[in-house]
Amino acid sequence: MPNIFHSSMNTISRVSILAGAALPVILILVGSGITRSAANTKVDVPLDQPVPFSHEHHINELGIDCRYCHTTVEKSAFAGMPATQTCMSCHSQIWTNSPILEPVRSSYQTNTPIRSPEGELGWNRVNKLPEFVYFNHSVHVNRGVNCNNCHGAVQKMQLTYKGKAFFMSWCLKCHTNPENFLYTSPDVTSKSLSPREQVFDFYYRASKGDSTLNPRDYKLANGLDYKPSSEEVSSGAKQVETLHVKTKQLQDCWTCHR
Ligand code: HEC
Ligand code: HEC
Ligand code: HEC
Ligand code: HEC
Ligand code: HEC
Repeated sequence: MPNIFHSSMNTISRVSILAGAALPVILILVGSGITRSAANTKVDVPLDQPVPFSHEHHINELGIDCRYCHTTVEKSAFAGMPATQTCMSCHSQIWTNSPILEPVRSSYQTNTPIRSPEGELGWNRVNKLPEFVYFNHSVHVNRGVNCNNCHGAVQKMQLTYKGKAFFMSWCLKCHTNPENFLYTSPDVTSKSLSPREQVFDFYYRASKGDSTLNPRDYKLANGLDYKPSSEEVSSGAKQVETLHVKTKQLQDCWTCHR
């Protein structure tokens, strides 16, 4: 068997440790080019999709849980995108002749990923971090961080758009003071819900209408920022403690740049 590790490997690992120390500098160089691109800051603008999929319709009106389509959102870094089979579990029976759904049907029949009528492959990505940033969905969802904090009012979107520009300073606003964001709504339908379950229960409560929501949930339902009261901050701080949130590491560069 050939020696797959070249003898200069030791030198390489020493160099990469040095390069690691210089990472922030490299990021400044890379970042200054990338972060100015318009694609990164297009907030509130829906993208063209193979099918005009409405979250408003499927979540608010039909009451489908996020996890039905984004199956890995509480288990892995990646939220997951629905396979055509997921759509067809209903659309082989509902709206079977709708021309809007033709790309879904032909994807199913040909067993290939969905394509737009113009031939573009797959769903267009709305949210995308630069390659040098690490993100993980399951960690956030299991701490009870609601999707709308980061994606805006998803359950009201007729067409999906980016709710927030993911600037570093924006991530750090929560990573510096997670107690301002972690909380248990006084209106959870059952007191025994875990923080994770509360994330999804929120959409059930929001589907009853804005007027039924407390002020904080109202802001969340509409993708707006909220300034918590001092009582809410201290209850958030308790939550940070209970969940053993590693507050020191949250601001560490290596948490997000690894
Ligand atoms: C019936 C299936 C379905 C359900 C339920 C669903 N989604 Fe989606 N979601 C999709 C599809 C299809 C796309 C890709 C098309 C688009 O962006 O509109 C998508 C895209 C997204 C995106 C943008 C992904 C990107 O490109 O960056 C976000 C964010 C999102 N969904 C959040 C949610 C949240 C939050 C919930 C629950 C409150 C939810 N979705 C429930 C099917 C679903
Ligand atoms: C749990 C069942 C269910 C699933 C799963 C589902 N849909 Fe639907 N969808 C419906 C129903 C019900 C309607 C509404 C029909 C009506 O308005 O009479 C609908 C309507 C639509 C429409 C019509 C336009 C609109 O929103 O009013 C589109 C497009 C659509 N769905 C796309 C999709 C896609 C793409 C997927 C997979 C990502 C999907 N659906 C998954 C049940 C479902
Ligand atoms: C703390 C912020 C945050 C929360 C909370 C969050 N997301 Fe995301 N989401 C992101 C970021 C950042 C991206 C882009 C990730 C990338 O490019 O690597 C993303 C991307 C996505 C995507 C595209 C596929 C992917 O994983 O890249 C979907 C779908 C999605 N989110 C759904 C959800 C759903 C559903 C929830 C709630 C159950 C949720 N997100 C909660 C920040 C968040
Ligand atoms: C609303 C609050 C909030 C926002 C916004 C937020 N985070 Fe977090 N993040 C958390 C919490 C809480 C944790 C969990 C820390 C723990 O349990 O120790 C976390 C943990 C993480 C981790 C550690 C994952 C691991 O595997 O240990 C990464 C990476 C991360 N966040 C990246 C990001 C990025 C990138 C953004 C911006 C796009 C972001 N976060 C925005 C609250 C937030
Ligand atoms: C909570 C996650 C998080 C932490 C912690 C974090 N960053 Fe970032 N960083 C990001 C995100 C997200 C971007 C991409 C911003 C964009 O696309 O505009 C970024 C981008 C950058 C850039 C590119 C220039 C810019 O501002 O966009 C540099 C340089 C950088 N980070 C350095 C650091 C250093 C040094 C630390 C430690 C002091 C650090 N980061 C900690 C999330 C984080």
